[in-house]
Amino acid sequence: MKSPRLIQIAHEDPQAVRNELLAGLLAPTATIAPKYLYDALGSRLFSAITELPEYYPTRTEAAIFSREMKGMANALGQVATLVDLGAGNCEKAARLFETFRVQRYVAVDISVNYLRDSLACLQREHPEMDMLGIGLDFSAALALPAEIGKGPRALFYPGSSIGNFTPAAALAFLRQAHAASLGGALLIGVDLVKPVSILEPAYDDPLGVTAAFNRNMLLHLNRLAGTDFAITDWRHVAFFNSVESRIEMHLEALRDVRVGWTGGERCFCAGERLHTENSYKWQIDDFAALLQQAGFGRLRHWTDENQWFAVFLGFAAP
Ligand code: AVJ
Repeated sequence: MKSPRLIQIAHEDPQAVRNELLAGLLAPTATIAPKYLYDALGSRLFSAITELPEYYPTRTEAAIFSREMKGMANALGQVATLVDLGAGNCEKAARLFETFRVQRYVAVDISVNYLRDSLACLQREHPEMDMLGIGLDFSAALALPAEIGKGPRALFYPGSSIGNFTPAAALAFLRQAHAASLGGALLIGVDLVKPVSILEPAYDDPLGVTAAFNRNMLLHLNRLAGTDFAITDWRHVAFFNSVESRIEMHLEALRDVRVGWTGGERCFCAGERLHTENSYKWQIDDFAALLQQAGFGRLRHWTDENQWFAVFLGFAAP
């Protein structure tokens, strides 16, 4: 049996992280990047979100994959190397291994520690597959290490995580994905525009799991930046901004609050907000145009019967 190779690309140093977070807190509209939603508890809360009846993206995407997997495999051809961006528990990619005839699997996530157990477990089910785990924060730059090998790669970016990027940043990211595929392909999940009555409950569920996920970011910040946020001072706010075509998540101060840390502080008036996430919703044609602008061609896409979610395939080579 083979065993997974694990590589950690240097973490940002803690002082730089702290400075970035505090600069975000001091900005006129306080903002924290959504990657800070995912500490150990945040990752579990997100996983709970995917089980909520109101949170349609995960199960809608899964249904598209199970229904269309054969057609996708035909379009894609044999996959020598599958690079899974934001792999986590590696579950979504593992469902594709047989149909896509994957020979080597490269799981990328922010920390190699998230990948170790899932890869070990997967390797037992696929003893002869080459497996590589890479700890890399690709939200800033998608720089894949040479260890992955030279041939064309199929990049897999499911879950509509692309929705966290503004359209301009999404284009920049897709251009990097185009280059990183080395003449291969990209298979990407994208959440689509739909009625607000479906969108908003998906991000503000009556059980309060999304609220807990959002408010938990403050506990994470307290550890990373040495701040003294009290979660009971803050409420979860999520709404669809139709001008920008995005769900916005914020934390809103319930009263006047003073947040302090060694060497600084910020006061928030009651009702003032801290912006924690954008989740863009795309139209099929606009996303296809974006993929084309990034250099991808021979585009295909598959959706569910409601057109709530789409999976796009594009090729980097002509
Ligand atoms: C992981 C970025 C795809 O935007 O739907 C879920 C994160 N935020 N509920 C999304 C999220 C609130 C999720 N993504």
